[in-house]
Amino acid sequence: MYGEASAKVGAAIDLRSDTVTLPSPAMREAMLRAELGDDVYGEDPTVQRLEALAAETVGKEAALLVPSGTMGNLAALLSHCERGTRVIVGDKAHIFRYEAGGASTLGGMVYHTVSNERDGTLDQAGLVAALQHTDDAHFARPVCSVWRTPTISAAAPCLRPHI
Ligand SMILES: Cc1ncc(COP(=O)(O)O)c(C=O)c1O
Repeated sequence: MYGEASAKVGAAIDLRSDTVTLPSPAMREAMLRAELGDDVYGEDPTVQRLEALAAETVGKEAALLVPSGTMGNLAALLSHCERGTRVIVGDKAHIFRYEAGGASTLGGMVYHTVSNERDGTLDQAGLVAALQHTDDAHFARPVCSVWRTPTISAAAPCLRPHI
């Protein structure tokens, strides 16, 4: 299905997804010439440079290269959330709709969805309600996951007051 749609798109700029982009000749050349090594032993200079650049770019102590967005999202959730926590996500968020429930199946987390508005932000009242929590052990503890680019809504920054 995706293949047929791609063929029809022709020379137009295809904005269906970041995943439909292809590497340019310069990118292919860079991949061909990249210095490689065993990343587990810390011997891949290309990965090391990329991780250092990513950490510096976003002002973090360190970065970790993972082979897919889905894996990155899952690693982030597993490192932030214990089993039995509630992950608050937009109802159109990639992590909720397209990642096979990985946070539940592998991490014991519960998805709690809040409506995504047309501009991609979260419904504020829904978010405030979702964040309500008491120490009552009946309820899973909330952890908020705010996506800047919900896949189905238009990409839009989440407004600070929503957080
Ligand atoms: C917001 C978002 N998260 C995660 C992914 C998944 O990335 P991957 O296909 O590399 O697993 C995508 C893919 O388009 C995405 O748009």
